Amino acid sequence: MPLDLPPDEAATLRRGDGPAVQIDLIQTMIFHAAVAALRLGVFGALERGPRELGALAGELAVDEANLRALLRLLVTGGYLAEGPDGYERTPAGAWLAGPDDGFGAVLDFWHSLIGELWQGLEETVRTGRPQRDFYAWLQERPDVLTRFQGIQLRIAEWVEKEVLELAALPGEPARLLDLGGGHARYSLAYCRSHPGLSATVLDLPEALEPGRAAVEAEGLTGRFAFVPGDLRTAELPGGQDVVLLFNVLHGFPALTARTLVGRAVGALRPGGRLILMETLTDPVGSVLEEGFTRGFDLNLIHTQGGRLHPVETIAGWMVEAGCSPPARHDLTRSATLSLLVADREG
Ligand SMILES: C[S@@+](CC[C@H](N)C(=O)[O-])C[C@H]1O[C@@H](n2cnc3c(N)ncnc32)[C@H](O)[C@@H]1O
Repeated sequence: MPLDLPPDEAATLRRGDGPAVQIDLIQTMIFHAAVAALRLGVFGALERGPRELGALAGELAVDEANLRALLRLLVTGGYLAEGPDGYERTPAGAWLAGPDDGFGAVLDFWHSLIGELWQGLEETVRTGRPQRDFYAWLQERPDVLTRFQGIQLRIAEWVEKEVLELAALPGEPARLLDLGGGHARYSLAYCRSHPGLSATVLDLPEALEPGRAAVEAEGLTGRFAFVPGDLRTAELPGGQDVVLLFNVLHGFPALTARTLVGRAVGALRPGGRLILMETLTDPVGSVLEEGFTRGFDLNLIHTQGGRLHPVETIAGWMVEAGCSPPARHDLTRSATLSLLVADREG
């Protein structure tokens, strides 16, 4: 939550009469404090109503004096307020419950990622080479991996209906290949609406578990194959009616991303359809979306050697690989996601 500076203090910093970077320093402290509170269960406890300090410390089994210091910073940060019955969540704090719920999971994930992997950012910029390996790090952090997968799943749940409307499948397709499809939510949605369709989901081994579980829960195991592998090198099953390449290209540098588009198109039968989803480099209409997207781009560059590729560039790669010029559909349920849909020619 932005510090609620009185206008005269804000004006002083805007004029440059004081170091405005102080705000970022304090916000960073608040960010850490908010995640600590999440992990201690502060927001979860206050979800059930206000609490006096002593009662809250007892309930959470934490040191009362230190809890007070944490809560006071979160009051300044706008997440908590002190009311007649003790500490309570503000509307900003009401977005947070626990580290595994809703936006709390998002905050917890980014806290781990930035806290552990953003060191050495200057070296990435200096050398042009990523200093970290996001997916190798995730493999060693099963708790963070679960949160990362949960975030992808929730985004998919939010947009899948619109995706199916905007990117319909031609005729009666029989074979779909979902590259980097992990949780399999999109493949499942397409299979549900096309009874004759079977899907192959290819992803890193540890990413496939949530997909397997979801497919089993729907009783569709017979129509799914889960293939562990690296999508840069794995042999891809050919003759596909549909290939999905959703939110994968941004994990790779341009040359690799371009090759992946070629591989995806190569797996299609002539007339088959490539459906691609990516994050826009410049979402319009929201400073919040713009800020997050720029931070996301820098994160990809530093932790994966990836980056956000302009959709126009990706569209060019699709045509170069043998597709018709793709149709572009920006999602309305997300200010940052866009679909490119094109058929393999020939
Ligand atoms: C951002 S997630 C997108 C997941 C899903 N397609 C979606 O749109 O919600 C990227 C996916 O690509 C997978 N991935 C990343 N690098 C990969 C690689 N080298 N080989 C196979 N899968 C990879 C990840 O495991 C992850 O499931």
